[in-house]
Amino acid sequence: MKTEKIKPSLKFKGSPSIPGDKSISHRGLIFGALAEGGTTTIENLLESGDVQSTARVLMQLGVKIKKENGLTLVEGLGHNNFKVPKEVLDCGNSGTTMRLMMGALSSIHGMKATLTGDESLVKRPMKRVAESLRFMGSTITMKEDNFAPLEVHGDVLRGIDYELKIASAQIKTAIILAAIFADGKTRITGEIHSRDHTERLLSHFGVNIKSSPTDVLVEGGQKFKANKLKVPSDPSTAAFWLAGASLVKGSELLLKNVSLNPTRIGFIRVLERMGGKVTMKMTEKDPEPIGDITCGYAGLKGITIEEAEVPSLIDELPVLSVLASQAQGRTVVTGAEELRVKETDRIEALATNLRAMGIQIETTPDGFIIEGPQKLKGAKIDSFHDHRIAMAFSIAGLVAEGETIIENADCVGISYPEFFTTLQKLTS
Ligand code: S3P
Repeated sequence: MKTEKIKPSLKFKGSPSIPGDKSISHRGLIFGALAEGGTTTIENLLESGDVQSTARVLMQLGVKIKKENGLTLVEGLGHNNFKVPKEVLDCGNSGTTMRLMMGALSSIHGMKATLTGDESLVKRPMKRVAESLRFMGSTITMKEDNFAPLEVHGDVLRGIDYELKIASAQIKTAIILAAIFADGKTRITGEIHSRDHTERLLSHFGVNIKSSPTDVLVEGGQKFKANKLKVPSDPSTAAFWLAGASLVKGSELLLKNVSLNPTRIGFIRVLERMGGKVTMKMTEKDPEPIGDITCGYAGLKGITIEEAEVPSLIDELPVLSVLASQAQGRTVVTGAEELRVKETDRIEALATNLRAMGIQIETTPDGFIIEGPQKLKGAKIDSFHDHRIAMAFSIAGLVAEGETIIENADCVGISYPEFFTTLQKLTS
């Protein structure tokens, strides 16, 4: 198990290139594999543990994926040509891999696949996905009817009217992927305001989908077409550097080609409201808005974040709690109970580590309350094997008194393998 030592930093300067967006990378591989023939060429695919899990699972299903001149090439196999895997499909730590593949596999007639994952993933709820897919006609069996290992039996599915109760892009995408190959029309209503990469990218891959503020409509019996895809840099990864720049005096940060998709920039919007010195400039619009971000040090103030805003910054809330501890006044986060079922219970993980660093925090079932500013003291940090906890507390270490030790730090490889080398460059 790797540990990393973080020292207080007097400098935070640079323009690091941010790796590709994790959500778009998973989708690029899966949509490319589903294409009926033709090669999908992906530029700037994120090379990290989670995306490798998706690639590995697709290859077990017979998809050919290779790297050439820095590009990732996915040979379209077409969903009906996916082969029944001989071995268990190991999704590693990746909830996105498991949930999206449940959707894609459930509509393949004759498919029988067992999906599992690591110690963290087998504890995450899957009934929320299985429920809608069963309603469409697929058979899914799960441990305690909620957890992996789980078995998907594909079938000819029927379109459904479904009211989504949880604002989750993973569940929404699983339903959409099944609906594309089902008989008839599917309409999804309810909590559909999570990240919309699937909706945007489907048209790019030749699939018709209509999405409005009130519903998502998918016609069954469609086919994917191979295409070229440029993956923008990941805004959830960028958030760690924006937080670092906001906290370290005299900082200067420029991040280029980052996804500025409106469903993903909640953290930047919140940072602006906190008084952060952050700017965004859009440089491209289609199929995903992309642009440049600058950020510098600012004295921050506490704010309130409510349920409606949570999906747009769900992955950034651990690092936001670090900013809140340094901001003037009270920060209240509500409506974020989904944090409890991420790679770890992130509300408990962030509270445990903030307390270890000397911060008083009150946790609630769906969020937390922090009265700032308080003094951060260097401490031993338990990452709980969660990449975003390890990175958030590395940023805290930059402005803590004394040394901060991040235990089990290698989990950053799930989304950002170069995190510690980039941190080193920005601060030295
Ligand atoms: C993801 C959606 C989010 C996010 C996860 C990736 C996706 O989860 O936390 O890191 O790629 O669809 P939910 O929207 O399912 O909560």
